[in-house]
Amino acid sequence: MQNEYEQAIDRAVEHFRALITQQLERENKMEEGAVVKDFASMKQVVIGLVPGDGIGPIIFDSVRQVMDVLLKEEIASGKLVLKQIDGLTIENRMEKQESVPQDVLAAIKSCDVLLKGPTTTPKGGTMESANVALRRELDLYANVRPVSILEENIDWTFFRENTEGEYVLGSKGVSIPGKLAMDFKVTTEAGTRRIARAAFEFAKNNGKTNVAIVTKANIMKKTDGRFSEICHEVARDYPGITADDWYIDIMTANLVNEKIRSNFQVFVLPNLYGDIITDEAAQLQGGVGTAGSANTGDEYGMFEAIHGSAPRMIEEGLGAYANPSSILTALVMLLRHIAMAEKAEKLQSALQAVTTGENAVHVTGYREDDTCEDLTKALLKALQ
Ligand code: IPM
Ligand code: MG
Repeated sequence: MQNEYEQAIDRAVEHFRALITQQLERENKMEEGAVVKDFASMKQVVIGLVPGDGIGPIIFDSVRQVMDVLLKEEIASGKLVLKQIDGLTIENRMEKQESVPQDVLAAIKSCDVLLKGPTTTPKGGTMESANVALRRELDLYANVRPVSILEENIDWTFFRENTEGEYVLGSKGVSIPGKLAMDFKVTTEAGTRRIARAAFEFAKNNGKTNVAIVTKANIMKKTDGRFSEICHEVARDYPGITADDWYIDIMTANLVNEKIRSNFQVFVLPNLYGDIITDEAAQLQGGVGTAGSANTGDEYGMFEAIHGSAPRMIEEGLGAYANPSSILTALVMLLRHIAMAEKAEKLQSALQAVTTGENAVHVTGYREDDTCEDLTKALLKALQ
């Protein structure tokens, strides 16, 4: 018996050694830095369209129609090229046993930016989430999620670290069956510095005066402890901006505390906390169906709906009631990223106009309310 565990420990230690080596290599590469793409000076921008699965193709049908109208001239002149990329579906991924099949990844890498629908992540097993794989493959280190509630003067922007933390080795844990299981969390110097920099730069460029650093550094002492320290180091370069430490538990409470929540502006936080709290924030704004999400790196950008593929909606025959607002908001963010701010504003105000006020279209995912198509039609009319 003893021997059996010792062998398992030896295997785990070997595995751990390989993981540390890989992570050190990743950190070294990050330190070298990359060339930042300048969209404003590009003659042509290739947008990859990846519908995903579940409700993905349904909400994509909506966003595609909107793009054809909103970006008509740019598509006609060749300034924008839309490239449909199929094959990022759970069926194809399972069949090929690859979280992002090689040919799909090659097609994705030939684009400048991506608009991506939700992709199903199998629970357990070894198949990695396609999102996580793409964020890593394209080095999309900043997950930027804005949430606003106009009536309450809430304008939050979350900077979630997107390539490491609890996610980078999420499929590479160790276990001794029947006894124990361990996963690993990784925080690197360069990885933290670049997300902190992104958050403070955003604050500076958007007139924000405070950044909340959200961790659980009292418990995750090594990783979150260092994350917080590095954020404070970066903060020193931004004299007009204050930086406060918060623990993730109290911050989740703060977001539902109406007395203080509008004081928060910009948040910077490790991957998993960012994942969780941005769903909470999106729900406060009107549901996860309403929030868009930008995944950006120095070279690529991927813009997606914040929610998952909602297989339950498909099973229950509710696909037609899926809300396209989230992917449409992702398109707004994509357009801003590629220096097409005017079109972004146009879409954002049209979306705002058709989803608020007396004749508002309400897509809630329930049968008694409006459908994806109702919203699309109203939006296309508003854009004419
Ligand atoms: C998100 C999603 C993903 C994540 C899933 C689908 C892997 O929840 O983008 O927030 O956990 O990051
Ligand atoms: Mg999430």
